[in-house]
Amino acid sequence: MAEAHDRPPEQFKLRMRRYDPESGEAPYWDEHTVELEPHRSVLEAVLQAKDRFDGSIGIRCSCRQAICGSCGVRVNGEPALACHTHLDAAKSGARDGVIEIEPMGNMPVIKDLIVDMDAVHWKKIQRVTPWLLAKQPVPEREYIVPKDAMVDVTQTMACIQCGACVSDCLAMEVDPGFIGPAALAKAYRFVGDPRDDEQFTRLNDLAQDPQGIFDCTHCFKCVEACPKDVNPMGQIMRLRRIATGDHHIVDVNNGERHEAAFTTLVKNNGLLWEAELLPRSYGGNSWFGKFAPPAGKELLSSLPSIVKALLRGKVTPMGALKPHKIPRQDLKAVQAIYDKVESRPERYELNLYISGEDES
Ligand code: FES
Repeated sequence: MAEAHDRPPEQFKLRMRRYDPESGEAPYWDEHTVELEPHRSVLEAVLQAKDRFDGSIGIRCSCRQAICGSCGVRVNGEPALACHTHLDAAKSGARDGVIEIEPMGNMPVIKDLIVDMDAVHWKKIQRVTPWLLAKQPVPEREYIVPKDAMVDVTQTMACIQCGACVSDCLAMEVDPGFIGPAALAKAYRFVGDPRDDEQFTRLNDLAQDPQGIFDCTHCFKCVEACPKDVNPMGQIMRLRRIATGDHHIVDVNNGERHEAAFTTLVKNNGLLWEAELLPRSYGGNSWFGKFAPPAGKELLSSLPSIVKALLRGKVTPMGALKPHKIPRQDLKAVQAIYDKVESRPERYELNLYISGEDES
């Protein structure tokens, strides 16, 4: 069988989302057929269509080597770098054999496949003070940084600012003010750097902000979207662990209380007890939490969702009121994990990305 690079040119159909906000016209789909070798990229295909059929097609690109982050688009509904997506792979992922190319989500369209990164992505990056606030006094020569500490922040340094994670962030779709995965991953780059002097201030700021680290809903979309394995959600979880575990920051968003209630319930029962989670998160981390006024207030405001969940059979009254049970030996195994983790003198933030070791 011929190597991918030896295969002759083939025809590929592209379906592109076109939109010019200045025209006053609605967005529409535009189709073109290009001819290229299957290992060529979606970007090359768009550029061929632009060259041969319609010079007005708008797409942004520069390096064509997955380095500059300019060519972020959606291919068949998924965020991708157009220059890093092979045509044969894109065609096999297409619903009807036609490769669908759209602008990224969560950002306004400037034209066709070009989105306004300044309006959303870069604004959010600026929000997290994306530079080192050096410890004083500054050494006469270089700062000496432990190797492990630099390994830990290397993952976030791999970000090419393409905006793929922002495009797919479900929390940002609901709350456009959410600082978001790319900017929070950037924040970890400095929070995790031992040369930075403002770890507490940075974390306190991001924890107290209602659209900060506790606004993430763990949907994993940013993890899947990232073409560089930056794992933005993992970085957000690291920010939370340092904020709550190391600095004991109690935030106005109930993030720290929610986390404490969650881990206590799993430790005590082996599984989450959903009905206890909300009252404990707002009223205090014990069975009595539900009698505290803030818990009552929150329960009342959540009643419409609770009723909906009951009507749709997502929860049953008995299932909600009684804790879930697991066999005694399984509960012991869960609690042994807690004992092991909690008995460690310190927590490491090493990750699989570089070290090959799991987080500990
Ligand atoms: Fe630079 Fe695609 S053109 S990342």
